[in-house]
Amino acid sequence: MSKLLTTAAGAPVADNQNVQTAGPRGPMLLQDVWHLEKLAHFHREVIPERRMHAKGSGAFGTFTVTQDITRFSKAALFSAVGKKTEVFLRFSTVAGERGAADAERDIRGFAVKFYTEQGNWDVVGNNTPVFFMRDPLKFPDLNHAVKRDPRTNLRSTESNWDYWTLLPEALHQVTILMSERGIPASYRHMHGFGSHTFSFINAANERFWVKFHFQCQQGIRNLSDEEAQAVIARDRESAQRDLYESIERGDYPRWKLQVQVMPEADAASYRFNPFDLTKVWPHQDYPLIEVGVLELNRNPDNYFADVEQAAFTPANVVPGISFSPDRMLQSRLFAYGDAQRYRLGVNHHQIPVNAPKCPFHSYHRDGAMRSDGNHGGSIGYEPNSKGEWQQQPSFAEPPLALQGDAANWDHRADEDYYSQPRALFQLMTQEQRQTLFDNTARALNGVPQPIQQRHIDNCAKADEAYGAGVRTALESQRTLW
Ligand code: HEM
Repeated sequence: MSKLLTTAAGAPVADNQNVQTAGPRGPMLLQDVWHLEKLAHFHREVIPERRMHAKGSGAFGTFTVTQDITRFSKAALFSAVGKKTEVFLRFSTVAGERGAADAERDIRGFAVKFYTEQGNWDVVGNNTPVFFMRDPLKFPDLNHAVKRDPRTNLRSTESNWDYWTLLPEALHQVTILMSERGIPASYRHMHGFGSHTFSFINAANERFWVKFHFQCQQGIRNLSDEEAQAVIARDRESAQRDLYESIERGDYPRWKLQVQVMPEADAASYRFNPFDLTKVWPHQDYPLIEVGVLELNRNPDNYFADVEQAAFTPANVVPGISFSPDRMLQSRLFAYGDAQRYRLGVNHHQIPVNAPKCPFHSYHRDGAMRSDGNHGGSIGYEPNSKGEWQQQPSFAEPPLALQGDAANWDHRADEDYYSQPRALFQLMTQEQRQTLFDNTARALNGVPQPIQQRHIDNCAKADEAYGAGVRTALESQRTLW
């Protein structure tokens, strides 16, 4: 390959060390177009960061089917045991900006793109099976509460806890975040979850409700607050470094994909709303069923090209896998593509990391940065008499029965948001509970007393011992105001 330097237009660059000036001491000449081009490109190198999950790491790999689940889903990627599908996975933290330290107490993103022969399937999940809320109208508020204070430009524990404690449905996720699992030691040492309820459709066009679990095969490892502080003091990129180096040395991380499957009709009679993102489906009701193994085995050659420009969206589903009535999921079907049209442009699906690996044809044309030939001279309308790009009715989903009056239904009043945090708390050993109390008390440091009290009250609604433990830890750390 030629090592000769050229301009973006391919012309030879004669001097990349000295700008053109009028004489050895004179001012610069505007005709030094190489210098102008270099500056102009430099000024535009930063693109908007993701509104959340801005700091992340990614890698390519393979998904291999190990068990037959064709009775539940006709998705081509599950069609045969042993079948392999290429994947790209991006991990992230949520609240920090692009330069934030990796080892923060925060939820971790776990976003997988499966490049199937029927299009891309994205699972845009987290390392927790539940979320802070179940109504998408509250999502922008969450981000304003956990990001920076508008005046101080500091992260505000007061805003953070004020918001969380006013949402009773957040306690389950807050309990996980404050537990010993709140700071994963690395991206390789945590589980991943699709979190929402999705649907499977089989060849007989029967629908099932499904939850996706990626079970970590490296073993779960976490950091204490103290350990995380020490890690951050010497390395803000600890998770990126760990993932990159383990793949470089051939130590490929793996996750076992498992599903919980609920027959469609069960949803109506199940003891709670199975589309509520703040709740898990207990395994004794819907046991885990093995599907396959996901392995990461190739680092991207260029971080910006593949990781920064990656665009995941829950809207990317393939025949045999689909959505559910979960309103959070429904909102996300719009949010991601919309954010990416702003962050990357309307043709972001052409960027190699995002492009399907199967042929794709639509009537979309033009738009900024169209770089695939724009379908050349082929017609851009339908119906047409040329037989081009016909819809595929055989992939229509079975109808889904819906009912109800249109209103802003309040789901808080009559719902139980405490029994699942209670069950989680009661599963913990005494030592794990103490860690939960101490982490919570440290995180509540500096938060005004009425908000601390509100959290203690919420915890006590789950279990008296939970509330009392947090109170005692606050007192002993002298962080109770
Ligand atoms: C990133 C919106 C809930 C996981 C993002 C982005 C937006 C967004 C706009 C940035 C997308 C981009 O620029 O590429 C929302 C909305 C939500 C929601 C509106 C609720 C209504 C969730 C939930 C999960 C989740 C429940 C996990 C279960 C992620 C992940 C990323 C992300 C992993 C980063 C994806 C990547 O690595 O590129 N979200 N989100 N989000 N979100 Fe959400």
